[in-house]
This record gives sequence, structure tokens and C-alpha cells, in this order.
Amino acid sequence: MQSALLLGFSLALVLVASIEADVDINRATANQIRWNINRTASPCTDFWSFACGNFVNHNSPASKYVDNFGWVEDQFATALVEFMESDLKANDTQAPQLIHQMRTYYQACTRDKKQWTPVDPPEMVQLWARASSGPLGIAFDERADVATNDSTRRVVQLTMPEPRFRYRMLRALQFIENPKNNYQNKDNLTQFIKDLKELQDKHRFDEPTVYTWTYKEMFEQIPHLSWAEILSELFEVNRNSPLFKDLVFEVSNVEYFRDLVQLLKFVKYEDYREYARVHHLVVLEEAEPMFRNPKSCIHHMRAILPLGINYIYNRFVYENREQDTRRLQEIFTMLKATFKKYFEANRLELNAEMLAYLEAKLTGMQLKVGNLPEENSSEFYNLHYESAEFKNSTFLENLIEALTLRTRLQHAGLLQPQARLDLRRYYVNDNVFKARTSPFYENERNTITVPMEFLQFPLFDHRQHPIFQESLMGAVLGHEMSHAFEQEGLLFDSSGNESPIGLQIVESKSFQEAIKCARGKKSPVSLKECVADINGLQLAYDSFFGFNSDPRTVEYLPYAFDAEFKSKLFYLSYAQFFCGTLPPVLGHDRDDERVNVSVGNLRQFAYDFQCRQPPSPPSLCEIWRPREETEPAKLQP
Ligand SMILES: *[C@@H]1O[C@H](CO)[C@@H](O)[C@H](O)[C@H]1NC(C)=O
Ligand SMILES: *[C@@H]1O[C@H](CO)[C@@H](O)[C@H](O)[C@H]1NC(C)=O
Ligand SMILES: *[C@@H]1O[C@H](CO)[C@@H](O)[C@H](O)[C@H]1NC(C)=O
Ligand SMILES: *[C@@H]1O[C@H](CO)[C@@H](O)[C@H](O)[C@H]1NC(C)=O
Ligand SMILES: *[C@@H]1O[C@H](CO)[C@@H](O)[C@H](O)[C@H]1NC(C)=O
Ligand SMILES: *[C@@H]1O[C@H](CO)[C@@H](O)[C@H](O)[C@H]1NC(C)=O
Ligand SMILES: *[C@@H]1O[C@H](CO)[C@@H](O)[C@H](O)[C@H]1NC(C)=O
Ligand SMILES: [Zn+2]
Repeated sequence: MQSALLLGFSLALVLVASIEADVDINRATANQIRWNINRTASPCTDFWSFACGNFVNHNSPASKYVDNFGWVEDQFATALVEFMESDLKANDTQAPQLIHQMRTYYQACTRDKKQWTPVDPPEMVQLWARASSGPLGIAFDERADVATNDSTRRVVQLTMPEPRFRYRMLRALQFIENPKNNYQNKDNLTQFIKDLKELQDKHRFDEPTVYTWTYKEMFEQIPHLSWAEILSELFEVNRNSPLFKDLVFEVSNVEYFRDLVQLLKFVKYEDYREYARVHHLVVLEEAEPMFRNPKSCIHHMRAILPLGINYIYNRFVYENREQDTRRLQEIFTMLKATFKKYFEANRLELNAEMLAYLEAKLTGMQLKVGNLPEENSSEFYNLHYESAEFKNSTFLENLIEALTLRTRLQHAGLLQPQARLDLRRYYVNDNVFKARTSPFYENERNTITVPMEFLQFPLFDHRQHPIFQESLMGAVLGHEMSHAFEQEGLLFDSSGNESPIGLQIVESKSFQEAIKCARGKKSPVSLKECVADINGLQLAYDSFFGFNSDPRTVEYLPYAFDAEFKSKLFYLSYAQFFCGTLPPVLGHDRDDERVNVSVGNLRQFAYDFQCRQPPSPPSLCEIWRPREETEPAKLQP
């Protein structure tokens, strides 16, 4: 184990060194792309296999990883392991306490070998159950969020648990039914879980109406649940707290809640408590790293203690913030200008009010480098985790402490009158199992965040030629921007509030027509991803080659680092985002299909690769892009 780990280390270091020494980052990028190509595959009918088919087979550094994401995540983890293992900045002047807490958590994670046993830590688990959503987390999902009509007003959202969490009940059943665990009240517990599951099945397809209620209204609308008790556990305050009266609730699945009240009448409190404990144990099992070692502990901490990890990386490891930010803002500005041209061409024939809505949203969209708040006082960072007490020897207790901390931070400020989100201190803190590495868009903030993990070779380097950056990062940012303008994102205006104008656009015949070609057999989730993929790549392409360029009339000059692919390099570089080992066939939106669909909806792709049949409407999907081919223009890369 030890030697394998060291080997991993030295390889990563050699790689970084070779890129530094061989200053030509473009040659390195082009080589990486060339290594991944499978020249036996046909670019015209299976572009993913052509661009990525050899990823698993060659001997480049990438082949050690599942995909290019695995590669950049590993570089990130390597750097932080090095920091954590050293005593670097133990005397820091800005945030010594935060750094100490992070090191302590890391030490226990890597050194303490103790595992859960199903019957072993009842008091401990109960502790977390108290401060997490308590009973709420079991029979319904609770989250601290913002109001749909007011993106800075903090509210408590209550819904039925999502179907994807159904397996937690099954896992809990396994625990309880296992004779070794010796549950006293097995039959009644088992029956309760089965009833709960049945209830959720029954309400799965209910209308998703959301009600906005005060605390008092909650009591009236869903009586017999001990709300005071529940909230007092959640917020760690007295059950008669006068502060509850200012809370705003957004409640979905009201019929489910009412049925649940009926069900609970027949369940003994002790049984409910016992089930709660097992359920929390299942979540804890999920949240801990599968195997604890230095890197897996860093990945775990990226998810569960994001502010601490990002602070340390940003301050002590990340070197190119200024250059990266400048380059990303340039790309973002170009993409916005292209999107603006799409809107101005107004292929969907929207009215003036709708166009103004779209342009205001586009103009107001922000780009953020790294998931860190704007706040920059050292005090804020140093004390942010102050209420958590980590020990350097007991990982499982720390995990519960970290989850409790996370719940507390998410709910901080909710109990104030007119609870407003503090935008200067806002960052995303909702991961438990895996941190986001890919850029993401938030409707409520009208903001794209690019995690610092993503800003590394081979995915991005500020020194790369624009053809690499504006294809890969360009298409990724284009994809995220497009989420603001698909059927769900459109409902939110420039400030992140739900707007009737957005709804009018979504319901307009021309918009419905535009997304129809992306529809196929897709679920709503993959439909919006597909819309974002198609529009995102078109945006990136038009931004790089020029809005009106016609590839048939352009003569491409070779690049110093590539004489072979010329303009084709754009598509090959774009595809690197998706290169890796494909997961087993599950659904339809695997990476190979996503690449295939996106490039297939660029008419220019077929010209560039001399495919026999360039696509044309209706098989050609264009969401916002004007459809007519316009005047050819001469352009060179
Ligand atoms: C390359 O593509 C061909 C044709 O699709 C396929 O038969 C072959 O297995 C691929 N090679 C690798 C290394 O995946
Ligand atoms: C995408 O897949 C379809 C169906 O397999 C195929 O007809 C088409 O040629 C593919 N296009 C590309 C660019 O790979
Ligand atoms: C911390 O400060 C003390 C006293 O100034 C010094 O002796 C020690 O070497 C410093 N440790 C580190 C890791 O910088
Ligand atoms: C948002 O909705 C709530 C409940 O319907 C309402 O009381 C509140 O005034 C609305 N806020 C805004 C800013 O429209
Ligand atoms: C199990 O439930 C039944 C029916 O509600 C009840 O009569 C019985 O006392 C319960 N058993 C225990 C051990 O609580
Ligand atoms: C902190 O932020 C304020 C306001 O945004 C800014 O004026 C100041 O220069 C920043 N300080 C540092 C050290 O970055
Ligand atoms: C763990 O903490 C204890 C008590 O604070 C301390 O004595 C010990 O040196 C620490 N161990 C490590 C490995 O840091
Ligand atoms: Zn997406």
C-alpha cells in the first residue's frame, strides 16, 4: 500500500515538472489529445470513440485515472496532502485556528482506523440526529434555502424524500433484519419502514404544488406533528423560542405530510427513534470515505468542509488566480456577446418585453472563480468553523461533528426577523458525498462558479492557446450559461426570482418548438442537459470562429504545435472534457452520446470532417442560434 502511494506521488510530481520545464504547454496539450485518439473509429458516426477511444490504453499520465476529472482532482488532493502532512503555516497570521482544525480533522481521518458497527455508537449517532434535521431528515427532506419569489429571503423547504434516497430505507431494513444486530422490536420496525415506503410510492406522482406558510400556518395545516420539538432540535434552541414565528416555510407534497401524520399515530415514539438512528447510521456510512487514506480524506473534506479546504488551496497552493480570472472573464465576455447576437436575431420571435428579460439576465450573469465567499476578512475564515470541536484521534466522532456543523452553518441566520442571505459570505455548502469539480450555474444567484479543481492541466491552463481554452472551457461555460435559458432556468429572472415573463417564454410555441428536437425519449433532467449541451457548444464555436463564419470557405493555417488537425482541433479539445472510462450502460445520456449529439448539431462539424451528410433541419437542433446560414466570412484561427 505504502509503496503504491509513493509511486503515485512521484509520477504526479514528474508530470508537473515536465510541463514546467517544457514551457510549451500547447505541445503538451496537443500530445495529450493525440494520445487519446482512436484513429480506427469513425469521427462522423462515433465522434466520442474517435476523440477518446484510446484514453484507457496509452501510456500517458492520464491513463492512470478514470477520466480527466480524476486527473485534476488527484493533483488537487496531492497538493493538499502535502500541505496537511507538513507543519507549514502552523503559525499562520490570518487563520491559524481554521488551519489547525483542518489538520486535526485530516489527522484523525488518516490515522484512526476505527469503523462503524451497526449497534455500536447509539449515543453518538443520536447526537447527530439531534442537530441534523432530526426527525425531519427521515420521513421528509428539510433544507435551508431561499424563497422562490425572493432570492435573498431565507426559508425552510420541506418535501417528501426524493425517490433516489429510497435505497436508504432498504439499507436500514437490512440492518434491522440482520439477526446479528439483535433488534428488540424488529417486526414493528420493519412494518413501519414498509408502510413509509408504500406511502412515498403512493405520492410519487402528486402535483408539485408548493405552499408558503408561516409557523402558525404550519400548525394549522399539518396538525399533530410536534413542530416545536422538531425545530428546537434543528436550530438548537428552546422549543418555545419566540424566534420561530418569523420563519417562512415552503412545503411541497402536503398530502403526503397529512397521510404521514395518520401513519405516525400508530407508531410508538421509541420505534420512530430507533428507525431514526438506523437511518442516520446509513447516511454516515455513505458520508465517510470508503477507504481512509490521505487522498480519500482530502476528497471527503472537499465535500464536507469546503470552506476550509478552498481557503487553504486558494491561499497556499493556487498560483494563477489572477491570470485564470482574467482569461475566464475574457471567454465569458465573448460568450455573452455571441449569446446577445442570438437574442438580437430573435429567431423565436419573442416580444420586446421577453427580449429585455433575456438580455437583462444575460448581462447580469456573474462568473466566480472558486467556491469561496467574497468576504475577505481573516477573522471570518479563522472563526468560521469555531463551533466545531475536532479531535486528532477519533474520526467517526469528527464526522458527526462536521455534519452537525454543516447543518448549523446552513441554518445560521434563518431565525432572524426578515432572515436575509448575507451575499458577501455566501458560498455553496451542500455537498456531503462528493464535491463539485465541474463548473455549475445557480439560478438563484444567476452565477456560474468554476471550482479551482477544474482550473488545471489538462482541462485548463491560462497559458494555453485560445483554441484549447475556448473549445473546452468555452463549451463548458456555454453549457452553464445555457442553463439560465432552458425550460427550468428561464423561470428565474436576472436576480434569481421566479418571474411570469420567464414562464411565458417557456410556454411560448416557438420555444417549445425549439426544444422539441432535443426531446427524443429524454427525461426532463436529461432534456435540459441536452439543450444546454447543444446550445453551449454552438455558442463556443461561434465565439471562437466568428458568428458568421462558413468553414467551407475558410482556409485554416496549421498551428506551430499541430499541423494535422487545424480547425478540427476545436472539436477534439472540446471532447477532452468527456474523455475517460465509460460507466456501464445505464441510461442514455452517457458521455459518448452527449459528445455525439453536441457535435452532430454543428453543421460545421460535418464539413470539417468531411462527413457525407451535413445535418439540416429538422434533424439539426438549434435552440437560440439563428437558423439561416448567413454570409460566409473569411477567418483564420
Ligand atoms: C478503436 O475503434 C475501433 C472501431 O470502433 C474499435 O474496434 C477498437 O476497439 C477501438 N480501440 C480501442 C483501443 O478502444
Ligand atoms: C451519433 O450517433 C448516431 C446514431 O448512432 C449516428 O447516426 C451519428 O452519425 C453519430 N454522429 C456522430 C457525430 O458521432
Ligand atoms: C512557529 O513560531 C515559533 C516561534 O516563533 C517558531 O519557533 C516555529 O519554528 C514556528 N513554526 C513554524 C512551523 O513556522
Ligand atoms: C413571496 O410570496 C409570499 C407568499 O406568497 C408573499 O407573502 C411575499 O410577499 C412574496 N414576496 C415578494 C417579494 O413578492
Ligand atoms: C408491535 O405493534 C403491535 C400492534 O401495533 C403492538 O400490539 C405491539 O405491542 C407492538 N410490539 C412492541 C414490542 O412494541
Ligand atoms: C477586501 O474586500 C474589500 C471590499 O471588497 C476591498 O476593498 C479590500 O481591498 C479587500 N482586501 C483584501 C486584503 O483583499
Ligand atoms: C493529538 O492531540 C493531543 C492532545 O491535544 C496531543 O497531545 C497530541 O500530540 C496530538 N497528536 C498529534 C499526532 O498531533
Ligand atoms: Zn448541465
